[in-house]
Amino acid sequence: MKGVTGLPPKARASFARGRCVRGTYAPSDQANEITKSCSFTKPSRVLARFSLEGSLDNSVTLLRGFSFRLGSDGQHSEVCTQSAPVHFARTLDQMSAFLRARIPGPDGRPDVENVEAFSVANPETLHQASYMAAHPPPASFACTTYWGVHAFPATNSKGETRFIKFKIAPVGEQATEPKVKVRVKPAELLHDDLETRIAARDIRFSVMALLDRPGDPVMDVTIRWPDEDRREAVRLGTIVITGVEASDACDEPVFNPSTLAEGIGHPPDEMFAARRDAYTISQKRRR
Ligand code: HEM
Repeated sequence: MKGVTGLPPKARASFARGRCVRGTYAPSDQANEITKSCSFTKPSRVLARFSLEGSLDNSVTLLRGFSFRLGSDGQHSEVCTQSAPVHFARTLDQMSAFLRARIPGPDGRPDVENVEAFSVANPETLHQASYMAAHPPPASFACTTYWGVHAFPATNSKGETRFIKFKIAPVGEQATEPKVKVRVKPAELLHDDLETRIAARDIRFSVMALLDRPGDPVMDVTIRWPDEDRREAVRLGTIVITGVEASDACDEPVFNPSTLAEGIGHPPDEMFAARRDAYTISQKRRR
């Protein structure tokens, strides 16, 4: 991952540019119909980070990240979401080959023919880029919708388990603001916009659980569920971002998607299984 972006040793391997923020989480009345997780059924403080994928300069990047930690009393959950509903690789071997094909050569550029040949042989690795091209993100982190991508098994207080997908959707004025579609927005402008908005008023997101149907593909993070945009969904709660936090708070080894309080289980796909160690290694190296 670092080979592609040329990021320095102390940077995150992914989503290196970002802003650390704080806020609160308030559960909805329906949350416990979906999960018994204390993280999602009880109010708590939130530590979160908005971020941008790509290198540290202002090169073209469309993918945004939103990581958040909620819960209390040792019942924390950490969820990493991004502004696309799919990942760029289905298996670890495929992810590794995708990244290797994009490592710049001696002239500072990746071998275009190599990248094209890989894409032709692995068409599902284009799903994320196609989605981003068709849905350029809005002008602000605050107006962006984020997805958890994987299918998470959620167990409610009756012991019933079903798969859900996290969708983090802006609410209030943010959601209805005219969407000035920008293809590229320099990181500093996005960060300044975020700080200005937080200083003026809070920023709100609904934490939605998209509900599964029998036969949904739960092992493949490069494809969406059929009719996913019109899925039945339950609002688990609301995240309210109230302040900018010193970056040190998020530079600690904070967001690891395998940290989930009982009631939301680990997704069964191989990409999720690899994430626990990948984040731990990155966090150790960058300290
Ligand atoms: C499948 C969907 C994925 C999503 C939505 C996602 C999202 C994110 C986000 C939002 C961050 C920034 C964390 C922060 O703010 O501190 C991040 C960091 C990172 N991701 Fe992912 N990611 C995904 C898949 C993966 C996979 C498959 C791997 C590797 C196998 C991976 C490895 C990493 C690493 C190493 C970091 C840096 C962690 C750190 O140093 O704190 N991610 N990811």
